[in-house]
Amino acid sequence: MSNNRQKLELTWIGKEKRPKLEPRILIEDPDKSYGDRHTENMMIFGDNLLALKALEQDYAGCVKCASIDPPYNTGSAFTHYDDGLEHSLWLTMMRDRLEILRRLLAEDGSIWITIGDDEAHYLKVLCDEVFGRGNFISTVVWQKKYAPKSDSKYFSESHDFILSYAKALDKFKLGRLPKTTKQTDRYTNRDNDTRGPWKASDVLRNEERDYAIFPVKLPSGREVWPPSGTSWRFTKEKFDELIAENRIWFGVEGNARPAYKRFLSEVTDTIPSTTIWTYDEVGHNDESKKEMRAIFDTDLFATPKPERLIYRVMQLATNPGDLVLDSFAGSGTTGAVAHKMGRRWIMVELGEHCHTHILPRMKKVCDGTDQGGISQAVNWQGGGGFKYYDMAPSLLKKDRYDQWVINADFNAPMLAAAMAKHENFRYSPDEVHYWKQGQSSEKDFIFTTTVHLTPEHIDRINEEMLPGESLLICCKSHFDGADGKYDSITVKKIPSMLLGKCEFGRDDYSLNIVDMPRSGDEPAFVPAGPPVVETGKEKKKAKTEASSQLNIFDGVES
Ligand SMILES: C[S@@+](CC[C@H](N)C(=O)[O-])C[C@H]1O[C@@H](n2cnc3c(N)ncnc32)[C@H](O)[C@@H]1O
Repeated sequence: MSNNRQKLELTWIGKEKRPKLEPRILIEDPDKSYGDRHTENMMIFGDNLLALKALEQDYAGCVKCASIDPPYNTGSAFTHYDDGLEHSLWLTMMRDRLEILRRLLAEDGSIWITIGDDEAHYLKVLCDEVFGRGNFISTVVWQKKYAPKSDSKYFSESHDFILSYAKALDKFKLGRLPKTTKQTDRYTNRDNDTRGPWKASDVLRNEERDYAIFPVKLPSGREVWPPSGTSWRFTKEKFDELIAENRIWFGVEGNARPAYKRFLSEVTDTIPSTTIWTYDEVGHNDESKKEMRAIFDTDLFATPKPERLIYRVMQLATNPGDLVLDSFAGSGTTGAVAHKMGRRWIMVELGEHCHTHILPRMKKVCDGTDQGGISQAVNWQGGGGFKYYDMAPSLLKKDRYDQWVINADFNAPMLAAAMAKHENFRYSPDEVHYWKQGQSSEKDFIFTTTVHLTPEHIDRINEEMLPGESLLICCKSHFDGADGKYDSITVKKIPSMLLGKCEFGRDDYSLNIVDMPRSGDEPAFVPAGPPVVETGKEKKKAKTEASSQLNIFDGVES
């Protein structure tokens, strides 16, 4: 019997497993930051799952546009990062990140994801689950190549997809594109009309309406009727009115079938974007490689996107001043475009190319010396800056007795900031009261101390507290009965108060396992479905797939 309550969903191995992420603090490295010290732009070096978690407390609901270009999972290993995650791991990797990205989006925000054929359709279903089917905006087809690859075995693949979702479709406003000169050039002024250029448009309707079937007398004296199966778009009275206003065109000789004169000054100067973005409009892969070559002489990043492509996304999804986030930054195209367009940005990149590619590129953008990409189009002259952040190490570490202890790398302010973050307080040390290090509401404070908490200490704090205020004290040790001595003061011990709340000591959730160990002893994984008659080549492929499936269990935390 069928179960009517069963929901439609994509399943994969390991879907039910969710990491318990440690909310890390971000630490600025001023030596790597650049330009304007008041900038809000952030370059974060590290795994994006931890970085997104680190951003969540301060930026939930703030991001107008997340524009991401994750590894496509094509099975090929590129120079700067690995792109061969096993399918289930890829889905888990994406799901975990998309869920936080959704929470970071503003109510009127949206997410745009570039993706190839290998995962596009799985990603669509996954996104339906994360963002809600009703918040799907569209799938755009981007023509990434301009010439066929002659050695293609099957199709010469010439497009990628861009999936877009709104956080809440009813609150999202999709931008429009300015008309191109190609489009406005279609408006001409063949009769020197004082109202300016116009375009001839059809006056026929593909349907016979009796009241709109009548002869129209041309200036040449000839009479024309609408062809059979059609009728005029206007009534006889309206037609006469339009002729009197010189809004009907009968050709240079006054003997052509009538056409309506649509004036450029009367139509909007923007148009909606179509869902096919051709390379002449938004660039192609070779264009982005050229952009790379203009910035870096050697060691080019393998899979950059053209600036014009991201420019189009920004035109449709953002306004000046909006916050843009790219958690798979690559060579930094999103940041470069957002910066040149006057948007604020946050980028995250795990690879060393964060230092070898993104930092030099963004410095050139700030200096105004990067005149490639969209610089000319937006008249980019330079300005602004960015702050560079490392992720703090894990707050807790195992000591040699296998006990969790506070990581010695944490100094007092770092510890206070980390504890505030763990307990959902905003870290903002008060200049008057040392015990007010952060707050969760106007009257609720947190205080972290590494010294032993004595009765005298807590009494002094209590005397300073105002009626209605409450305080959480996090300390390494305290006198018996500290918690409960005062109703308004809660006392907890570090690290025991943190244990079990999240996973400590893990710095990388990228699960990049392209060079997976292959052991002959491992049992073969048999996929569900009918048996396949294997050719030699397929046998080899099946072996690779089988070994990657086995590694699912190695790669996911139990
Ligand atoms: C397709 S590239 C992005 C290219 C980018 N759009 C550009 O124009 O240069 C994907 C990037 O995501 C990065 N990446 C993959 N997994 C990551 C993770 N877990 N955390 C941070 N970055 C990650 C890779 O190192 C790679 O640079």
